[in-house]
Amino acid sequence: MPAAVSVVSRGRSKMRNTQRKPSILNFDAGCGSSLSFIVIGLVGFTLIACLFFISHQVKTGHAHSYSSHLPATRELEQVEEEHFRLPPPHKVNPRAVKRTVKRRGSTKASKIIDEYLDGSSALHDMFFPSETTAVNPTKGRNDSMYFYPGRVWLDTDGNAIQAHGGGILYDQNTATYYWYGENKDGPTYQIHPEGAQRIDIIGVSCYSSKDLWSWTHEGIVLPGERTNITHDLHISKVLERPKVIYNDRTRQYVMWMHIDDGNYTKASVGVAVSRSPTGPFSYLYSFRPHGFDSRDMTIFKDDDGMAYLFYATRGNTELHVSPLTADYLNVTSAIRRILVRRFREAPAVFKLRGTYYMITSRCSGWAPNPALAHATHKIMGPWETLGNPCVGGNHFLRLTTFLSQSTFVLPLPGLPGTFIFMADRWNPSDLCDSRYVWLPLSIGGLADEALDYSFGFPSWSRVSIYWHRKWRLPEGWRKSYA
Ligand SMILES: *[C@@H]1O[C@H](CO)[C@@H](O)[C@H](O)[C@H]1NC(C)=O
Ligand SMILES: *[C@@H]1O[C@H](CO)[C@@H](O)[C@H](O)[C@H]1NC(C)=O
Ligand SMILES: *[C@@H]1O[C@H](CO)[C@@H](O)[C@H](O)[C@H]1NC(C)=O
Ligand SMILES: *[C@@H]1O[C@H](CO)[C@@H](O)[C@H](O)[C@H]1NC(C)=O
Repeated sequence: MPAAVSVVSRGRSKMRNTQRKPSILNFDAGCGSSLSFIVIGLVGFTLIACLFFISHQVKTGHAHSYSSHLPATRELEQVEEEHFRLPPPHKVNPRAVKRTVKRRGSTKASKIIDEYLDGSSALHDMFFPSETTAVNPTKGRNDSMYFYPGRVWLDTDGNAIQAHGGGILYDQNTATYYWYGENKDGPTYQIHPEGAQRIDIIGVSCYSSKDLWSWTHEGIVLPGERTNITHDLHISKVLERPKVIYNDRTRQYVMWMHIDDGNYTKASVGVAVSRSPTGPFSYLYSFRPHGFDSRDMTIFKDDDGMAYLFYATRGNTELHVSPLTADYLNVTSAIRRILVRRFREAPAVFKLRGTYYMITSRCSGWAPNPALAHATHKIMGPWETLGNPCVGGNHFLRLTTFLSQSTFVLPLPGLPGTFIFMADRWNPSDLCDSRYVWLPLSIGGLADEALDYSFGFPSWSRVSIYWHRKWRLPEGWRKSYA
């Protein structure tokens, strides 16, 4: 298929451009000439494959026209390169190396990651800048309102935001955004030398905001349990990735989370409810969905009010997706296995005009790794894998999801096709000082790596997460909420 391949590679180079507008015309011309080439020279399979290709061009070309044209988002879609020099390696603290996840072989990249994870290295300091550079809504001018991925981020009381592995709920009732996440404001320790670094359960913190930049702490809305050692939320246990959705029928705010014991053998989901977005939440129970182990998870509420649980299962080898019951307090019996044998975790699900997307990470403990984007027209699957969505920065940053792990993707209502990618930059030597990486994510253009598609042609719009040292929300991001 040389003709089609050359068209595809032209498409790829276009996708790397910041302004994708002209690509539709170019694709049409490219397809016309490849078609006549085929009519003259090629038959059978080649012809069928090309017809597939053209039909997908039409489909995705249409999708493409939805976004990337807004002047407001053009700045967010600028490709920003990084040319930093990695500091010279120092002797890595052997304890630090042992503490990080064991990787096969010892590539240059894994040595750099080990160095980065070592809290005493210069490389670590580069990506965990000190509090003097903090994003601070109590000082200076709110009108700058820049996001600085990786910097300390203070709330409106001047304290570092503690909402790790979090997610955001837009509450129609109060026209306010609520950010829920793990409060990790305690000491990091290990139960035993082979175990993962941990912090005792403090609870789920909630922050409120109207502008997504200055966040007010609403308190710990689901606290850890201090005395009852058999309770799921006893401080010695694990509570991760809390996500909250609102049930319009029961008028309850429903929180789902990963519940585990200190050595991650319980592998369950937990459920809590509240009448108010700011809690307090009452903890109901934990269980293994459909009897399967469940570690990293998320929930997604669709436009039609149906909600779904996605969980990493079977020893993190695959994900399962299941609709929730109408009250959002349990899973239904429907279940599908997706991304089987892919070893993906940290799922974040979002939707644009009938297509569902998901960002996941590989499973490598606290160490960062390359993200993948996935897409489907049917939320229950099958899901297809598109490729690494990271754009800009440099090779090192793209291979590490900008040194972070996905946790949530928030739609910007006034800018369809533009989202905020929310991720955690874990700091395993001091988990409480883990940082937030928020970056613009956009859907538009053709995917340049449709890894699962049988003919190897792009069939989905490309998902791009754009690196920026600093950025802010464009005008009009909130407009369409009534
Ligand atoms: C910035 O905005 C927050 C929340 O709106 C407010 O509490 C704070 O006082 C503002 N700071 C300044 C310096 O205006
Ligand atoms: C401790 O927690 C367990 C599990 O939630 C519960 O069944 C038990 O009643 C609790 N005990 C006390 C004394 O509250
Ligand atoms: C898990 O941890 C508990 C104590 O927290 C311990 O009793 C148990 O033996 C551990 N299980 C495994 C498989 O390590
Ligand atoms: C959830 O549904 C399953 C299957 O119907 C049922 O066995 C289980 O008891 C339910 N759990 C709760 C907490 O209602």
